[in-house]
Amino acid sequence: MRIRMAMLAAGVAAITISCGDLGDFYSQKSQSGPESGPSQAPGAAPSYQTVRTQVFAPRCLSCHSASAGNEGGINLETYDSAHALAGRIDQKVYVEKSMPPAPSQPLSDADRELVHDWAQSGASP
Ligand code: HEC
Repeated sequence: MRIRMAMLAAGVAAITISCGDLGDFYSQKSQSGPESGPSQAPGAAPSYQTVRTQVFAPRCLSCHSASAGNEGGINLETYDSAHALAGRIDQKVYVEKSMPPAPSQPLSDADRELVHDWAQSGASP
């Protein structure tokens, strides 16, 4: 009888310990939380506003805006004008990699992909 009680106690202790381990495991997992990264949800189609802020404004509007004379007849300042050109923008930026033209510093791969994703996902506002 005494031996049985001891075994029972050991069993309970073993279960308690393993539950404790499991508890640590889960609390560690929940602490790490969702990935904190760019505001853009992964896989979501980028908007014109995102592309304008990250790429067009710093890298394109110095030539492709009304105040710069809309070089090449291209204006990227508004959604309407950029939307109509999405295919050509994708071609120049992502396929030919010829915009912005030398000697401007080339776009990063991330910027090219952002423009490409926008153009290919329907060029949303
Ligand atoms: C230094 C000035 C300059 C900058 C900066 C510039 N471009 Fe251009 N872009 C031009 C000129 C000049 C043309 C017309 C001649 C040509 O097509 O090469 C042109 C033409 C274009 C065209 C029309 C091509 C066609 O189909 O005929 C597109 C689209 C374009 N640019 C997109 C962009 C984008 C997007 C950016 C920014 C990532 C950009 N450009 C940055 C000067 C610039």
